[in-house]
Amino acid sequence: MGLLDGKVAIVTGAGGGIGRAHALALAQEGAKVVVNDLGGDRAGGGKGSDMADAVVAEIKRAGGDAVANYDSVTTREGGDGLLWSALAKFGRADILINNAGVLRDRTLLNMSDADWDIVYSVHLKGTFYATQAVARHLKTQGEGGRIINTTSLSGLLGNVGQANYSAAKAGIYGFTRTVSMELARYKITCNAIAPVAFTRMTEDLAVVKSMGDAGKQLLAPEHIAPIAVFLASEAAAEITGTIVGVQGNQLSIYKMTQSQGVAPRSGGTWSPAELRERWAEICK
Ligand SMILES: NC(=O)c1ccc[n+]([C@@H]2O[C@H](COP(=O)([O-])OP(=O)(O)OC[C@H]3O[C@@H](n4cnc5c(N)ncnc54)[C@H](O)[C@@H]3O)[C@@H](O)[C@H]2O)c1
Repeated sequence: MGLLDGKVAIVTGAGGGIGRAHALALAQEGAKVVVNDLGGDRAGGGKGSDMADAVVAEIKRAGGDAVANYDSVTTREGGDGLLWSALAKFGRADILINNAGVLRDRTLLNMSDADWDIVYSVHLKGTFYATQAVARHLKTQGEGGRIINTTSLSGLLGNVGQANYSAAKAGIYGFTRTVSMELARYKITCNAIAPVAFTRMTEDLAVVKSMGDAGKQLLAPEHIAPIAVFLASEAAAEITGTIVGVQGNQLSIYKMTQSQGVAPRSGGTWSPAELRERWAEICK
């Protein structure tokens, strides 16, 4: 008996890295899996079927069931295609993990339109298209459902050289919060994971390189997958709108905070002088 027996899961960008670990772990718990991957490089160039096919073969070798999908999540047709792969092969869809991602790190002053557009399209637009297609189906199916997005500490806290990526990932934070509220009435939860893992996306970061082989173990994508399985399961039916930070085996919850708030002494509008005088108090 698996935690996800009878469920059908769609994982975008599941041909490698964190998405592959998600797909294998979901299948191990009994879910049938749509393994989506465009099969291109880290920067969003090229495409191919090998990456998704290899993960489908791995799942099947382990006794699970899966189907490959090579659509790009950047188009509405791609988002719809994910759902149709699930329905055509397995007759239903219950779980969507929006995980596909690309990286085009540049400082703001050096960023091209193309760097901005592809990162925005894969992460934020891709999350929108897939979520909308699947959520419409989940509503009609009438049995609830699970949407799990992928954000990043870069989007939640900021990171030098990633204005495009952090804007898209911060967008996914806001999207997750709002979608969780809108879909609650259909018993569809929507949460996000902010992972840190050793993958082709992070392998050349100085901090990751400095950890050597130990880093590969400590930050293996296999640490992220159990959190996705949990959020996808019945055990997490009441958890929604939550952003889970996963760094190796360390778990945390990200929360947006607002300071207590103060009004000007006059009871009217703020003056620049009073703002300067009381800035520390306002920030507290
Ligand atoms: N690795 C980390 O430490 C880290 C940190 C924060 C967030 N993330 C996020 O986790 C997710 C997975 O990243 P990863 O580290 O496993 O990197 P990865 O490059 O191994 O995985 C991303 C996958 O998405 C696929 N993909 C890219 N564009 C696509 C498209 N248009 N349509 C479908 N698939 C597409 C790629 O082919 C690739 O297999 C990404 O959203 C990434 O931003 C990763």
